[in-house]
Amino acid sequence: SASEIFGSKTAMSGYTYDDLICLPGHINFGVHDVALGSRFTKKIALKTPIVSSPMDTVTESNMAIAMALEGGIGVIHTNLPIETQAQEVARVKKYKAGFILEPRCVPPTMTIEDLDKLKSTLGFTGFPVTENGQMGAKLLGLVTKRDTDFIVDRKTRLSQIMTPCANLVTMFEGCDLYEANDLLQKSKKGKLPIITKSGLLVALVARTDIKKNVDFPNATKHPVNKELLVAAAIGTRPADRERVKALVAAGVDAVVIDSSQGDSVFQHEMVKWIKSQFPDLQVVAGNVVTKKQAQNLIECGADALRVGMGIGSICTTQEVCACGRAQASAVYNVAKLARLYGVPILADGGISSPGHIVKALSLGAGAAMCGSLLAGTAETPGEYFYSEDGKRLKRYRGMGSIDAMKKGSDDRYFGTAAAIKVAQGVSGTVQDKGSIHKYIPYLTQGLKHGMQDIGAQSVDQLQSMLQEGHLRFELRSAAAQREGGVHGLHSFERKLFD
Ligand code: XMP
Repeated sequence: SASEIFGSKTAMSGYTYDDLICLPGHINFGVHDVALGSRFTKKIALKTPIVSSPMDTVTESNMAIAMALEGGIGVIHTNLPIETQAQEVARVKKYKAGFILEPRCVPPTMTIEDLDKLKSTLGFTGFPVTENGQMGAKLLGLVTKRDTDFIVDRKTRLSQIMTPCANLVTMFEGCDLYEANDLLQKSKKGKLPIITKSGLLVALVARTDIKKNVDFPNATKHPVNKELLVAAAIGTRPADRERVKALVAAGVDAVVIDSSQGDSVFQHEMVKWIKSQFPDLQVVAGNVVTKKQAQNLIECGADALRVGMGIGSICTTQEVCACGRAQASAVYNVAKLARLYGVPILADGGISSPGHIVKALSLGAGAAMCGSLLAGTAETPGEYFYSEDGKRLKRYRGMGSIDAMKKGSDDRYFGTAAAIKVAQGVSGTVQDKGSIHKYIPYLTQGLKHGMQDIGAQSVDQLQSMLQEGHLRFELRSAAAQREGGVHGLHSFERKLFD
């Protein structure tokens, strides 16, 4: 059992997810009967136990919207000016299914050649043309593949080939999605701009979106006003109190205190201050890896804890600072303590497959917080580019990389006042993973298969099995780990899902 593995007096090692394997149990239910409902904080439940990391290459509003629609939650990073971060939160709260509230617009002076470049980086093909190329300006027309396909001179300006406003169907703001849908069907158009009485563009409705995803049964929503839930990261500087106020005014549901070592007097004061000013706001504190650190933050009033130190894919903390803990040991130990207080924990970092999420939940986590696993999806910040060998890539960087710290995240590593910034992370690239709306369903399906193999029909049942010692693990030797991966082939191709 986990208590035998982690509690053994002779155990000298910290264990990682890969050091362990779950032994199968008895299956008496189908994979579709597995429920993944779990907790992000004391008061916020999730139907999908996956959280996107507060990193500037992972979570801004597009990601937070997609994560919440898929039943998880996104934490908007804090490397942004206060007002910008608050606007990102407000965008999630304002989201209305089916309405694209900030469609990418283009100016009438743009050439088809430049539009082609934009299309290849963004991956969609229809754009509203507005007076100044910005959202909220006067709508002049729409330009889609049909307008540009057969034009030989790619230097032609969009004003000459766009479908002008007079030939478009439009609706006025305030309409609902059913009316919009109806008009799109009757008119057989692909895109429906929503405008004010004076012709300013306020939103766009796309036929493809309506067909795809009006209904998200797992969405993480407020039970009454139905707004999507969203979290945002903050630091521990005195100025961060202003940040909290702005985020609350924008409607944030939880704040996540972003620190590589959470058991600091700065964080204790921040948690207590937030709980005294905004008792209903959920506070996720961390990061911690020991019971003592966790106990201190729980006593300050934390509503959840983030667990992990130096084990993320982009982290160099353990190398540079000699501090941290192997993640399976950290998750098990902190979860055991936090459970006594009813405080959920997030297993943060080091997750590179659905199997790692199964293990994190099996060791007591309420949800897995992921950076690299979700980086490279369409909804993350940043644009795709191509490597020399033709791979479609996006940037992914640690918040402790020098580049990220220069944007503000040095507070996470207590580096604000330091003359020399010491990197605790690296910058890199990851391959295109497509949309979160395809990727999260793949992860959750993998997760369900794993829980079915173990014989647990819900996360609650899995964790009861953990407590009662019915959940069995085995430690894996290096050879066992090799055996558990693909081996013995000359070459192979790995397709993750279909
Ligand atoms: P993954 O493995 O999901 O890890 O990519 C994401 C988590 O790693 C933490 N993080 C860092 N840790 N240096 C660190 O030591 C860094 O530069 C860094 N950036 C992020 C963070 O907890 C995140 O959720």
